[in-house]
Amino acid sequence: MSETSSNGVVAYDVVDRIAWVRFNRPDKRNAMSPTLNRDMMEVLDLLEFRSDVGVLVLSGEGQAWSAGMDLKEYFRETEKDGLAGTRKAQRESYGWWRRLRWYQKPTIAMVNGWCFGGGYGPLFACDLAFAAEEAKFGLSEINWGILPGGGATKVAHELMPLRKAMYHAMMGENIDGKTAEAWGLVNEALPLAQLKDRVSEVARVLLEKNPVALKATKDAMKRVGTMTYDEAEDYLVRAQEAANSYDNEGRKEGIRQFIDEKSYKPGLGAYDK
Ligand code: ACO
Repeated sequence: MSETSSNGVVAYDVVDRIAWVRFNRPDKRNAMSPTLNRDMMEVLDLLEFRSDVGVLVLSGEGQAWSAGMDLKEYFRETEKDGLAGTRKAQRESYGWWRRLRWYQKPTIAMVNGWCFGGGYGPLFACDLAFAAEEAKFGLSEINWGILPGGGATKVAHELMPLRKAMYHAMMGENIDGKTAEAWGLVNEALPLAQLKDRVSEVARVLLEKNPVALKATKDAMKRVGTMTYDEAEDYLVRAQEAANSYDNEGRKEGIRQFIDEKSYKPGLGAYDK
């Protein structure tokens, strides 16, 4: 029996250390409403540091992964509250995508069906992405008169060759899973019937890795893109050193001596090593 978020629009199960999280508005093709955005943050919060969760997979109930932002609830209804309404809705959606981008556990997008516009935010946020060949991806914004916002243009630019990204954004044509694989949007596309098995297989490999090294690796891969070679080299040395001392107890000892033992004051000097 699956668990659901407060408003029921996100469903999840934890099975053998894999958290299967699903957009759960199948009748609305899993469009992201403000309620869904809040519920998704709630579920991400709940699962991130659970010791029985090693990998998170994001997929959708029914025919869609996500049909993007909810044009009625996310755009039309929040615009009634003016700029304050728009900005609040943006904070809530961008907020959980950002949370997912820097998630403690490895994350996999399992794109089972439609993936439009705003859906590119969480798609990009996941460390890896696997799609059904039958899935359809589209930057449909141009079809109803806006540019691909909410990071979608950046996602296309980051993941696809420029000519493909430009064509994709300007033409508003959908591509299937195989084309999404060829253009770099996903790691791999395979028939829908095989998708979950393949994702489970990948997740099980990740579960065998050192979790500290995995978090350091995924963060490093995301950070180095804008750095020069020398900056990246320096960052990576320090990231590895930080990972090496992940279990460093010194900081806790410093707090203990100040708060519990009252043997020194950090404002006036260092604790006793
Ligand atoms: N926002 C709000 N409601 C939506 C959305 C959406 N993005 N997508 C689907 N729905 C709703 C429909 O209005 C419909 O509601 P109703 O049953 O109350 O009438 C229900 O979901 C089912 O949708 P259908 O269109 O009937 O489903 P179908 O399977 O025929 O088509 C498709 C699926 C192609 C995904 C179609 O729903 C669609 O084009 N959706 C919009 C996709 C899109 O352009 N999203 C915005 C991207 S831009 C951005 O995110 C910023």
